[in-house]
Amino acid sequence: MKILRTPEEMQRAAQALRCEGKIIGFVPTMGFLHEGHLSLMKIARERADVTVASIFVNPTQFGPNEDLAAYPRDFERDEKLCRETGVDLLFYPTPETMYLDSHSVWVDEDSLSEVLCGAARPGHFRGVCTVVAKLLNIVLPDFMVLGEKDAQQLRILRRMVRDLNFPVEIISGPTLREADGLAMSSRNKYLSPAERAEAVCLFQGLEKAKELFAAGERDADALKEAICEIINKTTGTVDYIEIADNESLKSFQALEKPVLVALAVKFSGARLIDNAVLGK
Ligand code: PAF
Repeated sequence: MKILRTPEEMQRAAQALRCEGKIIGFVPTMGFLHEGHLSLMKIARERADVTVASIFVNPTQFGPNEDLAAYPRDFERDEKLCRETGVDLLFYPTPETMYLDSHSVWVDEDSLSEVLCGAARPGHFRGVCTVVAKLLNIVLPDFMVLGEKDAQQLRILRRMVRDLNFPVEIISGPTLREADGLAMSSRNKYLSPAERAEAVCLFQGLEKAKELFAAGERDADALKEAICEIINKTTGTVDYIEIADNESLKSFQALEKPVLVALAVKFSGARLIDNAVLGK
């Protein structure tokens, strides 16, 4: 596995590979890798001639009061995991090479980004879209693999690729879960042991919603209340529980089409998100 540290170096390598007709598969990450990330790399490896992963804790997607400085980092461990998973090229740039002092161009998605995590974290998806647009221009992949745990991010990046005509296919990989059902996330590390035990409430809430939906419940508020009841038994606070159109992310009351149930819960150590699609 080769490590490339500047955008220029990475882009040159990608251009050479494309000239040779190689299929490039790409997995963007912010590092502190877990099985969920590795499963996306495995999906890329199965379809690509060359698998590229990036590790970049993107400063522009963190708000002023968010956890940028404290975001967990362990490059040595990540590098080893990428190597073992069969990544061919690892792009590991610094913030200074990704964002020059005079950086002034941004990518804004202004519909899907207004709700859910976008409402709770203003500017977050502008940072995500901008960095992913840059990464696509640097890595020049044929396809990019993204996780379904970040449901809103996945839909926004699909929209960005469609609306800005990026010549890249987006493939999604399923959420990987711990044995008790908690969705794998780099932020789980911030939870105290007691919070870690309680954090399964997001999964339990989603399972309850699925159960009610399967039994015929079609009122969004009834599902939200059932989820809220489960979260309220823990020390976590509900940031949002939303039932939205699976594509437009617009809020829904009567559940006739496939809907996305998405929630965010704040513990003292971390804000966790999870989701499920009902009626697929
Ligand atoms: O999902 C993430 O880890 C990040 O938002 C991404 C896509 C790597 C952009 O920084």
